[in-house]
Amino acid sequence: MQIPDIIIAIDGYSSTGKSSFAKIIANEFSFLYLDSGALYRCVTLFAIENGFIDDDCNIDVPGLEKAIEDLDIHFGEGGTYIGDRCVEKEIRSLAVAGKVSPIATVPEVRSFVDRKLREFGKNKRIVMDGRDIGTTVFPNAELKLFMTAEPMIRAERRAAEMRAKGQDVDINDVLKNLQERDYIDSHRETSPLTQAADAIVLDNSYMTMEDQMVWLKKIIAERFGC
Ligand code: DC
Repeated sequence: MQIPDIIIAIDGYSSTGKSSFAKIIANEFSFLYLDSGALYRCVTLFAIENGFIDDDCNIDVPGLEKAIEDLDIHFGEGGTYIGDRCVEKEIRSLAVAGKVSPIATVPEVRSFVDRKLREFGKNKRIVMDGRDIGTTVFPNAELKLFMTAEPMIRAERRAAEMRAKGQDVDINDVLKNLQERDYIDSHRETSPLTQAADAIVLDNSYMTMEDQMVWLKKIIAERFGC
C-alpha cells in the first residue's frame, strides 16, 4: 500500500502499545518512527543523574532548564543517545518511569522537547507517538490516532516486556506506576494528555497487532483513497 507524505500522530495512555504499533507502521509504509517519550525519559535520566530531581520528585526547574539547553539527544544504533552514550536501557527502568511524568509537567522541559520533536519531524513521512503529538506538537497531522486499552491488560503487557529484558517486576507496581502516570499526564496544566477532536480512537484491549494493522489500513484507504 502506497500512502502519501503525511504525519501520523499517535497519542494515548501509557503502555497501550503505541510505540510497538508505530514501529510496525513505520516499517510497513517506509516512514520514520520517532518516540517522543524517549526524549522525556532522557531528560529525566539526566535530571536524576545530575541531582535536578530528588526522591520526593522536587525539581530544580531553573537549574534543569539551563542544563538541558545544549543537551544532545538523538536516535542511533541501538536506540536513544545522550551525546555518545546509548541510554536505551536506563531510560526504560522503573527508576526513570517513576519520575518521568513529574518531569514532563515542567513547561520549560516541554518546550525543549517540542523544539526537538518539530526539528526531527520537519520532513513528512513520519510516525510519532506520545501524549500531545496530535494536540500540540503536530496539530496539523493528517492522521491522528488515540490509543487506549484496559489498565490490567496494559500492566500485564508492560510487565512481560520488562521481564523479557531481565527486569524483576511485580505486576502491582507496574499497574500502580502506569495509573499514576496516566493521572499526572492527563491532569497537568501544560499540554495534558487529551484526545484531539479529530483523532480516531483505537481500543486494542482485545486486538492483536495484525488486527490493528488491518483496522489502520482500512482507515487509510478510506481517508486517502489508496
Ligand atoms: O511513552 P512513554 O511511556 O515512553 O512516555 C514517558 C512519559 O513521558 C509519559 O509518562 C508522559 C511523558 N510524555 C509526554 O508528556 N508527552 C509526550 N509527547 C510523550 C511522553
